[in-house]
Amino acid sequence: MEVIVLPTSADVARRAADVVLAGLPAASGTGPHDAERHDPVLGLATGSSPLGLYAELARAVEAGRLDLTRARGFALDEYVGLPAGHPESYREVLLREVCRPLRLAPDRLFVPDGSGTTERELASAAVEYERGIAAAGGVDVQILGIGANGHLGFNEPGSSLASRTRVKRLSDRTRRDNARFFGGDVDAVPTHCVTQGLGTVLDARRLVLVASGQGKAAAVAAAVEGPLSASCPGSVIQWHAEAFVVLDEAAAARLRNRDYYDASAAGLSESPTP
Ligand code: F6R
Repeated sequence: MEVIVLPTSADVARRAADVVLAGLPAASGTGPHDAERHDPVLGLATGSSPLGLYAELARAVEAGRLDLTRARGFALDEYVGLPAGHPESYREVLLREVCRPLRLAPDRLFVPDGSGTTERELASAAVEYERGIAAAGGVDVQILGIGANGHLGFNEPGSSLASRTRVKRLSDRTRRDNARFFGGDVDAVPTHCVTQGLGTVLDARRLVLVASGQGKAAAVAAAVEGPLSASCPGSVIQWHAEAFVVLDEAAAARLRNRDYYDASAAGLSESPTP
C-alpha cells in the first residue's frame, strides 16, 4: 500500500489521476498489467471525493493523453428504488461526471441495476453485474472514496470482507451524509443500494482511494492503520497488493506512521548511496 499525502485536494486530484493513468493498459501495451492486451476497464466511484480526479482525467482526454473510446466503466454502486433518470441515481451522476467529460460512450458505462422491486430480482441483477465485470476481463483501476464511517462502495461496517455484488441497507450515518445530494432531505435518500462487494473490489488490479478533508481523517486512519476488520470496510485495502491512498493534509491528520509514508513517497532519490 502506498500512502501519498499532499497539501491540497487539488494536488490529490492531480496525483491520483497520474496513478490512475499509470494503471491503465497503455495503447502501446507497456502498462503494468499488459501481459495480455485488453481494452481499459475503469471502476468508478461516485460522491464528492473523485470529482477533482475526474476533472483531471478529462484534461488528459483533452490533451490526448487518455483515450477511453474503447474503455468500459463499471460503477461501484447504485441506489435501489430511484426512478430511471433521477439526477442523483449513480447512472445519471456518472453520465454527467464521467461519460461526457471523459468521452466514454454511455453504452460502455455499466451500473448495478437497482430497479428491481423484489429481493430476487435485485439479487439476480447483482449476479449479472458480476458476470459483466468478469466478461470485460476484470477492472484495471478501481477508483474509491471512503465514507466517514469507513464504508467502501456501500459496504457498510459489518460487511463481509469476501462479499460480492449484492443488496445492502444503507446506514443511518450514510443516509444523513448523502442527504446533501437530495436537498438535505434524509427521507429522500433511498434506504437500500446494490453495491459491489469488498471481494469484488479486491479483484481489481489496482485500487486508488482518494480522500480530502478532516471529516475523513478518522476513517482514513482506521482503514490504513487499523486492524483489517469488517468494522471498517475500508481496511480491506490493506489486503490488496497494489493499493494507493492519496490524501490531503486534513484527511491524513490522524495517521501515526506519516514520516514513513512521506519518506517512501520520496522514492530512492533520498536514500544514502550504499
Ligand atoms: C460512491 C461510494 C461511496 C463514497 C463515499 C464517500 O460510489 O461508493 O463509498 O465513495 O460515501 O463519499 P464522498 O466522496 O461524497 O464523501
